Amino acid sequence: MTEGTEPATVAAVDWGEYVETALAEISQAASLDELDAVRLARLGRVSELSKAMRGIRDPETGRTLNDARQRLEAAVGEHREVLEQTELERALRDDQVDVTLPGRPVPRGHYHLLTQMRREIEDTFLGLGYEVFDGPEVEDAYHNFDALNTPPGHPSRSIMDTFYLDGDVVLRTHTSPGQIRFMETHEPPIYMVSLGRCYRRDTPDPTHTPTFHQVEGLAVDHSITLADLKGTLLHLARVLFGPDREVRVRTSFFPFTEPSAEFDVSCFLCGGAGCNVCKYSGWIEMGGCGVVDPNVFVGVGYDPELWSGFAFGLGIDRIAMLRHGLPDLRLHWENDLRYLEQF
Ligand code: PHE
Repeated sequence: MTEGTEPATVAAVDWGEYVETALAEISQAASLDELDAVRLARLGRVSELSKAMRGIRDPETGRTLNDARQRLEAAVGEHREVLEQTELERALRDDQVDVTLPGRPVPRGHYHLLTQMRREIEDTFLGLGYEVFDGPEVEDAYHNFDALNTPPGHPSRSIMDTFYLDGDVVLRTHTSPGQIRFMETHEPPIYMVSLGRCYRRDTPDPTHTPTFHQVEGLAVDHSITLADLKGTLLHLARVLFGPDREVRVRTSFFPFTEPSAEFDVSCFLCGGAGCNVCKYSGWIEMGGCGVVDPNVFVGVGYDPELWSGFAFGLGIDRIAMLRHGLPDLRLHWENDLRYLEQF
């Protein structure tokens, strides 16, 4: 269409009919999209009505077209409200949440088995009135060895067994330096446990991992005896392995305890009759223990004539392995969900 023919078109439109047809289209629009299409076609910038309005020459045509525009706009507005209301009702009806449907389970994590064991042991000792103490994993050789009566040249200090970081700085090989750090900053009586990671230069195999966890216990008071030690270990063994367990101590050697012992728990699987968990001995090795060596007390400034104490240490990873019948210690470190989800 050319510019020149436009006035003819304008003149040719029967505005009464235009309005009637447009009103019908508006009322038939079944959706907001359809309504918008009608609005654009009938009232939009390129609609016949808009074009005609741009070409108005006389007041009468102006009134007619304005009137047409107002009626159509009003009709669009009314019908939009109707459609919106209908849409709202549909949404309320169709998108209803059925609160009786079972919910979608949210996957929940949980503590690693070793953390669970650690907390269980902590709780056990808190229940006995012990304090829980955190020692550093990066230690100096003084706290890891010397203060524990372990002189230079002792085989455990070898670079084959211990991770040296820098000079005399090591990754602690046991939680026993926690004893020293605690005694350096506290006066007896002391009832303390310290749990955490330890490091040794072991090649990983089913019963060794270079990182592992220990729990250390230390009691210092007047006239502490081996009987106190054994009673405490018995309590721990029964918490971990059941109320029918017994413990036994066998003489051993540690530089920082005198006398020293290793302690065993009666086998929780066979009750002592012999099975492959206890290697047919009826007993399972738990850890090391003993009466605190007087040299250790002297080192931290305690009078060994006045105070006596016991200490013990055991591996949490190994205890978890035994308790749950795991075939391999390395499972603790592999993040395999088949293992993790069982605990
Ligand atoms: N620290 C010793 C170890 O790692 C265990 C131990 C702790 C022994 C306390 C005696 C007393 O083998």
